[in-house]
Amino acid sequence: MSIYLNNAATSWPKPQPVSDAVYDFIVNRGANVARGSASMRDIQSLDYIFSCRQKLAELFGGYEKCDPRFVTLTSNITESINIITKGFIRPGMRAVTSSMEHNSVLRPLRRTESEGISLEIVQCSMKGYLDPAMLKKAFSQRADIAIINHCSNVSGSLQNIADIAEVCRESGVPLVIDCAQTGGIVRVNAEELGAAAVCFTGHKGLFGPQGTGGIVWDPEFAKRCSPFIEGGTGSLSHEEYQPSQMPDKFEAGTPNVPGIAGLLAALEWIESEGMDNIRKKEEYLGKMLEEGLKGIGGLKIIGPSSDDDPRLPVYSVNLREKDNAMIARALSDIYGIETRPGLHCAPIAHRTLGTFPEGALRISPGYFNTADDISHTVSALAEIAKH
Ligand SMILES: Cc1ncc(COP(=O)(O)O)c(C=O)c1O
Repeated sequence: MSIYLNNAATSWPKPQPVSDAVYDFIVNRGANVARGSASMRDIQSLDYIFSCRQKLAELFGGYEKCDPRFVTLTSNITESINIITKGFIRPGMRAVTSSMEHNSVLRPLRRTESEGISLEIVQCSMKGYLDPAMLKKAFSQRADIAIINHCSNVSGSLQNIADIAEVCRESGVPLVIDCAQTGGIVRVNAEELGAAAVCFTGHKGLFGPQGTGGIVWDPEFAKRCSPFIEGGTGSLSHEEYQPSQMPDKFEAGTPNVPGIAGLLAALEWIESEGMDNIRKKEEYLGKMLEEGLKGIGGLKIIGPSSDDDPRLPVYSVNLREKDNAMIARALSDIYGIETRPGLHCAPIAHRTLGTFPEGALRISPGYFNTADDISHTVSALAEIAKH
């Protein structure tokens, strides 16, 4: 049996009701959405989508009393961020982001630079934190949008999103939050923060299937974005132009209904398990791992320490001059422990943390790990460190 410690990439295993729901949808239901005869099966498909939107609106503090129309369902957060960057940013604008971003933010923004948009990347601390005062300074020039990571997928650094949002509100800059690592784990309230958009992915802390994600919109910001893809919506079929009504505006083509059925089951499972309980257990395992790692000679934990800094249990480490890919391979081949070496699709975060270009070995426990998994991993790393 392997020990899975790569939950920052995707959570695994999924709760049983998630795979049951995907299976049940494919085997017993399977109707498309708003593209049938209004049979019971058609209505059930529609109900999955509606209920999932509603739960996501409630989870992320959606606008206008959690109106589900202002939740867009996507395939992942990368698509969510692209909908916003391609739908909102225009030549002449200035975009601001942080030096802890994932490539799903950096690459779409870098592309806009060739189209006459200026990009400012605000430098974060060596522990991976964005100082709201630095963000404010970046807003002293024109700023049309800020896209900010809530928690680093490299170091687990958890940003002070309330203060960041306040700076954005004071300066009138629309704030887009990348909640890939925090969705389902840390409470986020889009309307209270005054965020323009909260983006999430379904397959990490939300425990849903891969191929799910979305955006919770401020309705005013949604109006200012053009659709990224256009096509059939199962609504207003007489119109030759993409409808402007939500949620159809940003959702063309047949959605991933089996995935959405699974995501809905995952959201119900999170509710029954309790989000705070899930976070507490993950943090307990993280602290146990951190304590164990601190005792290994020559091993350096990158970024924050849970004694002093707000963080989630995503740990990146380096072991003396050892190549982190070789360590990951040894952990996997000899001990059956799954981790992730390299740059984690976040080269600028590694530059910020001082680990570019060599990267690091990332160990990210999840809810289904046990204290034994952590002890085995610490012992395995201690053995590797000795040789
Ligand atoms: C902080 C962050 N943003 C964005 C992404 C991209 O997620 P997805 O591949 O689900 O689009 C990830 C995935 O690791 C991430 O950790």
